[in-house]
Amino acid sequence: MTQNLVYLNGEYVPADQAKISIFDGAISLGMTVTESTRTFGHQPYRLRDHIDRLYLSLKAARFDAGMTQDELEKLTLEVWEKNKPNYDAGTDAWIIHNITPGQWVPSSGQKPADSASTVMIITLPLDLSYWADFYQTGCHAVTPFTRIQPAQSLDARIKNRSRFIYTLAESEVKLVDPKAQSLLLDTDGYLSENKGGNFFLVSNNRIRTPSTINCLDGISRQSIFTLGEKLNIPVEECQLLPYDVTTADEAFFTSTPYCIMPATKFNGLEIGDGKVGPITKQLIAAWSDLVGVDIIEQAQASKAS
Ligand SMILES: Cc1ncc(COP(=O)(O)O)c(C=O)c1O
Repeated sequence: MTQNLVYLNGEYVPADQAKISIFDGAISLGMTVTESTRTFGHQPYRLRDHIDRLYLSLKAARFDAGMTQDELEKLTLEVWEKNKPNYDAGTDAWIIHNITPGQWVPSSGQKPADSASTVMIITLPLDLSYWADFYQTGCHAVTPFTRIQPAQSLDARIKNRSRFIYTLAESEVKLVDPKAQSLLLDTDGYLSENKGGNFFLVSNNRIRTPSTINCLDGISRQSIFTLGEKLNIPVEECQLLPYDVTTADEAFFTSTPYCIMPATKFNGLEIGDGKVGPITKQLIAAWSDLVGVDIIEQAQASKAS
């Protein structure tokens, strides 16, 4: 077993010793741009797509990583190579990028001239046990009182670490059902996303998802468009309302760790016949084929271990 190392501002540091300043913009501004990539069979999956999205988020957030996309990609692969020996064959990894504007002194409200961005690259074992049962039963999607912030305030395409809204939303829906998953609406009442996933509906063999006006342009979301094309199932972006979930045949969330999480209940009502639907199953199977890992089996093994 080697030490789990974190890349922090040009150095490799043991994870339990990696520290940032109390004056870092992550804390004084609540500003961190982030990415979470996963591996399949220890191979980073769509890493370059995650890095490209990170650079779009950084541009919109108006700070940078102090290096090019190629350099960050190379560095990320180096971090993973160093930590990979700690992972057994069945366990995949999260690869996390957190970038902050660096030192930002609250008393002056200024960034010191010599302060560079803070760059962290972290790997963690991907524990899929939480999602294991949802592949069979589907989850219960519940709309919380808390709404997603409008793009006029903070564009949801900037993938950032502020989880205040999402965390409030999750705690509200957990009062309705301890296993519920939030499905946030925007301030006009249209469906958006949840704390870490995009949302899809299937009606009459057609897949629909909210447009990125009010949600992150998820890399897994993009995979549904690709898989839909491959399987000859149309996928459309549009504005969707709670009515559309209530009357849908199937529904699911997508996110990097679990890929597809079926939803079989919405605000207490069954979606379709209340079972994981055939198109959802077809998509999970196609994704498993694509990455050479049985997504459901891996989550179940994670739960059993
Ligand atoms: C708010 C939000 N929406 C959607 C997603 C799904 O994005 P991806 O498929 O790139 O993991 C995430 C991922 O963390 C997220 O934080």
